[in-house]
Amino acid sequence: MRYSRMPIEIESPEEMGYSNIRYNLAESSMRDLNLRDLNLDLNHLTLFYGEHKGLLKLREAIIQETTSLTPADVLVTTGAATALFIVSTTLLNSTDHLIVIRPNYATNLETPRAINCELSIIDLKFENQFSIDVEEIRKAIRPNTKLISITNPHNPTGKLFDTETIKQLINLAEEKNCRLLVDETYRDLNFQTALQPYFAGLSPNVISVSSVSKSFGAPGIRIGWLICRDEKLMHDFLAAKEQICLCNSVVDEEIAFHLLENKTVLLEKNHAHIRTNFANFKQWFEKQNYLEWIEPEAGVVCFPRLKAEYKLDAEKFYETLFTNYATIVGPGHWFERDKTYMRIGFGYPTLEELTIGLNNLHECLKMMAK
Ligand SMILES: Cc1ncc(COP(=O)(O)O)c(C=O)c1O
Repeated sequence: MRYSRMPIEIESPEEMGYSNIRYNLAESSMRDLNLRDLNLDLNHLTLFYGEHKGLLKLREAIIQETTSLTPADVLVTTGAATALFIVSTTLLNSTDHLIVIRPNYATNLETPRAINCELSIIDLKFENQFSIDVEEIRKAIRPNTKLISITNPHNPTGKLFDTETIKQLINLAEEKNCRLLVDETYRDLNFQTALQPYFAGLSPNVISVSSVSKSFGAPGIRIGWLICRDEKLMHDFLAAKEQICLCNSVVDEEIAFHLLENKTVLLEKNHAHIRTNFANFKQWFEKQNYLEWIEPEAGVVCFPRLKAEYKLDAEKFYETLFTNYATIVGPGHWFERDKTYMRIGFGYPTLEELTIGLNNLHECLKMMAK
């Protein structure tokens, strides 16, 4: 394995220092919770090694709305990030091929690159409303294809792929005897539609990945999971986890359980916040002239781009936005796109921060886009 640091991590708000950023429109999550808000008593906890697959009641809570899954289909991991690492390193070696839909979460591209496997990238196009073309994926399949990798709801576009399209991909994976990875890290942030069951419930060829990081605003407890109905593969995933970390932090698991136990109430509150922010963001978007977008459908991010009639020194623009306006968004190169695309997060900021941050963005565009 040859590891490289990813721009999205090098330039992330936590690496820049949160206290330097006033208007943070770069995040893809809800505002971070404080442990105090949960009013949890953890005094009873014994700090032993936890069950290697993950705390049983936590695994039960994870699959609460997917009737075709059992706790044996769930492996708790240190965030979705580790789940994705386990999937890539277990399934792929340098003679294997995979297909990754881009843009994507950087790890979904970077770990296969570190393994040095054959990689086919299929880019979602703004002109096609960032839709998945199943036939394009079919054509990219090779005899050594082991994995097709998508994210849904999608980061950074906020696109929610229709279930029919994902079912076609599942059929394709079954037909070609490969796996479909559905990174569902944003599934609980579907603030406009009903919660879908995990796609892993539909076929043993599917691996679903998610976590409490984004929807609950709890990335600091590092609890995520992968779900798959293939018993043999789950055995291999567990072997990988045991070699990486043995088990999760029992403290983190208990907190994650509390979040999932109170999921309905917590998500109702979070969705109400997103809906208010999104309505205001949409009004702002419709009034400004510099950017065009495919309107997001789920999650808390979207991926607009500068209209073709404008030119922008993008590097200088992001620097000015930060130094003069204390505002950040996620530049396109985080997602291997032109820097005139930008990810704007509307769930993390308060309504006031969002309003001021968007005004700052507009002022900066007015000054620098020619
Ligand atoms: C699509 C996607 N998958 C996985 C992750 C990693 O999340 P976690 O904090 O659960 O490791 C992220 C984080 O940005 C993400 O956007």
